[in-house]
Amino acid sequence: MLPRSIVAATIVLALMSGGLPQTFAQNNDPQHKTSQHPGEKTGDVARGKYLVESVAMCGQCHTPRDSNGNLDRTRWLQGAPVPWLPAKPDPDWPLSVPRIGGTPPTNDAGMITLLTTGVWINGKHLRLPMPQFRMDRSDAEAVVAYLRSLTPKQ
Ligand code: HEC
Repeated sequence: MLPRSIVAATIVLALMSGGLPQTFAQNNDPQHKTSQHPGEKTGDVARGKYLVESVAMCGQCHTPRDSNGNLDRTRWLQGAPVPWLPAKPDPDWPLSVPRIGGTPPTNDAGMITLLTTGVWINGKHLRLPMPQFRMDRSDAEAVVAYLRSLTPKQ
């Protein structure tokens, strides 16, 4: 009999080898992307959706909430009142969080600079609570592709 921990580790490895290579193949293969979508700009929409919804959690701040405090999916990423105020009042704290879904507030280059360096188009860092992202370029491109894929709601 194998010790239980070895069995568990083997199962985990088996699961990983089933799941990971597919993800890597999708992201590290620009040829694949261009051949599938000739002429399309880079940026993997499905990966961008995953990064926005499940990793960077942009919606927690950029989406308004209903009266129960749940995110209003009908106005996904359409801008909202800032969800948190600092304990000590700060005149420099933003009161609203801009819309980013649909047509993002600036061009792709500006969005990618923000997401890879934390610097906005005015040459400054955005204010808290906006996180200072340091994504790699392909992740930033995927986020922008996903944001552009959304339909703005009035
Ligand atoms: C914890 C809250 C929070 C999260 C999470 C967050 N943001 Fe923000 N975001 C803000 C706030 C607040 C501002 C306004 C900052 C300011 O006015 O200086 C902002 C501003 C921006 C702006 C500038 C828009 C403009 O018109 O000025 C962009 C673009 C942006 N966020 C994109 C994103 C993206 C993309 C994500 C996820 C990858 C994200 N944000 C996650 C709070 C957040």
